[in-house]
Amino acid sequence: MSGMSAIMGVMQNAARKAARGLQRDFGEVETLQISRKGPSDFVSRADKKAEEVIHEQLSYARPGYSFLMEEAGEIEGTDKSHRFIVDPIDGTTNFLHGIPHFAISIALEREIDGNPRELVAGLVYNPITDDMWFAEKGRGAYINDGTRGGADRRLKPSQRDLFSDCIFSTGIPFKGKPGHAKYLKELHQVMGTSAGVRRFGAASLDLAWTAAGRYDGFWERGLKPWDIAAGVLIAREAGLQVESLSDGDVMDTGDIIVTNDTLLPMLKDRVT
Ligand code: IPD
Ligand code: CA
Ligand code: CA
Ligand code: CA
Repeated sequence: MSGMSAIMGVMQNAARKAARGLQRDFGEVETLQISRKGPSDFVSRADKKAEEVIHEQLSYARPGYSFLMEEAGEIEGTDKSHRFIVDPIDGTTNFLHGIPHFAISIALEREIDGNPRELVAGLVYNPITDDMWFAEKGRGAYINDGTRGGADRRLKPSQRDLFSDCIFSTGIPFKGKPGHAKYLKELHQVMGTSAGVRRFGAASLDLAWTAAGRYDGFWERGLKPWDIAAGVLIAREAGLQVESLSDGDVMDTGDIIVTNDTLLPMLKDRVT
């Protein structure tokens, strides 16, 4: 058992509540009033509705806490030392195409010892598969997928050390974005020397699946805090290395690499 704290209970309830709307809307995409925020960056009524439900639930349980949310942006509360970071649908393109690979991502950061950016709790929830991935600082990372009598199971990342046996996950920057050509070279390098590369379109799930050992590692550039906040904590608590591919903290750069100690230099060598 994970011995989940009260705040994790609050976050999971909020995610499960918002998930009901997403489960309903998943089959009814035609009615969702889709708009485009940028090339291949869509937003629908479902994203906004889910975000509202999560915001309502969390602010009811923890009045005053601040928020950073993908659709509504920054909402400053009276308590600036606690901030929820929310992506109501990570993998919107999958959601809108009827691909059951998307997730709600909720993280909580807290100011600890003057460090305002300490991630203390995070969850990634796929409403279709009912997989709840979660972690709290210092308590390990877990999945609850309703099996084994509903018990939480501790995540075990990959121990592989032979690059040619490994499968990596990534995200591809849009054509025309800076770094696209360089990225294709990296992809070529990793594909040519590993057992394969996957690109499933939801960074939060890429991180959770890496924490669970389904992938041996993950890298992507240009991600936002709401894409990675929960997944970063889950990966770290599972025992993986999480680093930034460029100068600065990964939560600021969004340029992320995650894998085990042995594979880290090997993957880095190919993607930097
Ligand atoms: C996207 C997903 C995707 C990543 C994109 C993100 P969204 O989030 O995480 O895997 O490659 O960069 O924007 O827009 O579906 O929440
Ligand atoms: Ca988006
Ligand atoms: Ca996202
Ligand atoms: Ca999103």
